[in-house]
Amino acid sequence: MTAVSEAAPAATAVDVVEAVEAAEPAKALVRPGLDSPVAVVSGGSRGLGRVLVERLLDRGYRVATFARSDTEFTTGTATERPDQFHFARVDLTDTDAVRAFVREVATGFGRVDALVNNAGVLQHSELALTTPGDQIDNLVRANLVAPIVLTQVCARAMSRTGGGTIVNVSSINAIRGHRGVAVYSAAKAGLDGFTRSLARELGALGIRVNSVVPGFFESDMTALVTDRDRERIRRRTPLGRVAAVDEIADVVQFLVSAQSSFITGQSIVVDGGITC
Ligand SMILES: NC(=O)c1ccc[n+]([C@@H]2O[C@H](COP(=O)([O-])OP(=O)(O)OC[C@H]3O[C@@H](n4cnc5c(N)ncnc54)[C@H](OP(=O)(O)O)[C@@H]3O)[C@@H](O)[C@H]2O)c1
Repeated sequence: MTAVSEAAPAATAVDVVEAVEAAEPAKALVRPGLDSPVAVVSGGSRGLGRVLVERLLDRGYRVATFARSDTEFTTGTATERPDQFHFARVDLTDTDAVRAFVREVATGFGRVDALVNNAGVLQHSELALTTPGDQIDNLVRANLVAPIVLTQVCARAMSRTGGGTIVNVSSINAIRGHRGVAVYSAAKAGLDGFTRSLARELGALGIRVNSVVPGFFESDMTALVTDRDRERIRRRTPLGRVAAVDEIADVVQFLVSAQSSFITGQSIVVDGGITC
């Protein structure tokens, strides 16, 4: 293996993504006559991602999202808003498919203005010492590698139109230890590190990069959390309750919007104070 020297001249983000994009031409989606902004949201079929997709559509964005399965929401929205919404079945752990999805979107919609790396995978009570290698690989690929790949391809598209904004959805597990989620925590902490360094790299291209760091909120991901644990979280939270998904979406939306035009490289914790 060749070690990479820190002093070696670094390829720019544009070089890197250009090389990735040159590898395979994209198919075209047909979206004639539309010039509204475009957002890519991973995991927009349910949970926080669905709320974000709904809000972006309501604000006039064209939105492309993917997940492993369709839901009533994705099929209904694709029927109701065919020119404004694009959904595909893509698995985050298949990084070639993730790349191909964004290339297709960038070509079909003609631009990418916002990326929300929302999709995430959590396996509860997975002790790091006994987690099989393929599961470690899957968790890191889904929670860290896929967002990096999505960012590469989207940032290239953003740089062509003068900039954009990227929001990574992290977790308070990135900043506080919790038993049973060590690999997930490592991947989310990696995402926050990626956010900071990438903000330095992409600022000159007019691309802002931030992360939102949520505490517990209700979704399918947390459906298995016991009532006892929910109560424990509520008790330890200074605001005395858990978040509504809309309270997390509000912060993501703020970071996507021009209202946060001078904020980059930041991780904003939205947890009712449980980590303070
Ligand atoms: N809920 C919480 O308390 C909490 C707290 C802190 C941080 N977060 C973070 O917030 C984000 C959203 O979480 P959520 O609670 O809304 O999750 P969720 O309800 O489980 O939804 C996850 C979304 O991601 C998609 N997804 C999951 N695995 C995928 C894969 N391998 N490939 C493609 N898509 C995949 C899901 O669709 P498919 O299953 O059909 O693929 C779904 O659309 C995640 O990054 C999570 O880590 C959540």
